[in-house]
Amino acid sequence: MTRTVRINRDRLWDSLMELKEIGAYDDEATGLRGVRRLALTDADADARRRCVRWMREAGLEVRVDRIGNVYATRPGRDRSLPCVLMGSHIDTVATGGAFDGTLGVLGGIEVMRTLNDAGAETLRDIEVGFFTEEEGVRFGTDMLGSAVTAGRIPLDHAHKLADQDGKTVKDELIRIGFDGDACERRPIPHAYIECHIEQGPILAAAGVDIGIVEGVQSISWQRLTIRGEAAHAGTTPIESRHDAGLVAASVVVEARRMCDSGDFGQLRATVGNLDIGAGQTNVIPHEATLTIDLRNPDDDHMTAAEQHLARYVHELAARHGVQAAWERMAKTVVVPFHPGIQQLLGATAEDLGLPYVRVMSGAGHDAQEISAICPTAMVFVAGENGGISHTPREYSTPGACANGTDVLANAVLRLADQP
Ligand code: GLV
Ligand code: MN
Ligand code: MN
Repeated sequence: MTRTVRINRDRLWDSLMELKEIGAYDDEATGLRGVRRLALTDADADARRRCVRWMREAGLEVRVDRIGNVYATRPGRDRSLPCVLMGSHIDTVATGGAFDGTLGVLGGIEVMRTLNDAGAETLRDIEVGFFTEEEGVRFGTDMLGSAVTAGRIPLDHAHKLADQDGKTVKDELIRIGFDGDACERRPIPHAYIECHIEQGPILAAAGVDIGIVEGVQSISWQRLTIRGEAAHAGTTPIESRHDAGLVAASVVVEARRMCDSGDFGQLRATVGNLDIGAGQTNVIPHEATLTIDLRNPDDDHMTAAEQHLARYVHELAARHGVQAAWERMAKTVVVPFHPGIQQLLGATAEDLGLPYVRVMSGAGHDAQEISAICPTAMVFVAGENGGISHTPREYSTPGACANGTDVLANAVLRLADQP
């Protein structure tokens, strides 16, 4: 007979509210209190230590690997069997909320506490982990820790990535005391489940708390540097300018036009970082850098979009007499999740009486990396305010967080008893 557990809703919520105080800041744009916990900063280190404390208090064995990923194990009866893994991330963007990533980590810790309360033994070990630099905001590559673990990004390459001040991942890991000695290529789990907020409007529109995630769309991050020539704003004839700012602005507009055109499927394009240097009123900008974030649920459409943009920039640069240099920051293809794990999550939600819908993920997640090494799927939890995220307005109700974590707990329990 299938065992059913229910997590402690108040305890989960208290943990979420406690962790959000680490890295809290006053957000001027919203007037709300947000979370700024960029990877491997002091705030991230404090949050890591708090999570490790909670893991140890739950009686778990904690280990840290060489890219700073942290895992905590609850032993099963047969320790020779691959474990069932839960997890996500606790780093945030600079304007983050309390739920992105942390729900999956604190939810995983809550699952462990719940199993302890129930005195539940499992056949397999169960682990909960958090991965380094999921957001990619500080060192420029998203899903970094999980990509290293899964073998897509070599450890050495990841260690050498540097932030805007030239500080490297390796040096920052050492500085905050999370340069662990466990091998970064972790033992292959039996399965991985990540519980995460949806960060979009689909679940709320369907009137459900739960989404079973079918996969993650393709993500392309590039940095474009345009070099033109500084010159006098009043005296330089329009036709003889090499205006790097104008070219950058045209790229922003073209990226949006591409989305609206429908020529690239369901393309989403964002220029989130645009820098035209010192910015003097009466000087034509000589250099501009911008980041271009493209998302697409279809790999062919993604390729076509990248090629179009490359051509567009090439022609524009020639027309304006500027140099354009591309730098690849990150690229992942469409990742479909494991049908069997999706099915198990759906059956678990049904048994708990929780309605759900199936969705494709718009955001990137550690699960897309871990899915390269073991059967993987995700549980989504609905958000308020249209599911808005990467802003302090991000909010999921205590009930929705608890329902998602109940699905996580019971799915993990079932997987951990599979021979
Ligand atoms: C991760 O938050 C992403 O950028 O999708
Ligand atoms: Mn996330
Ligand atoms: Mn995020």
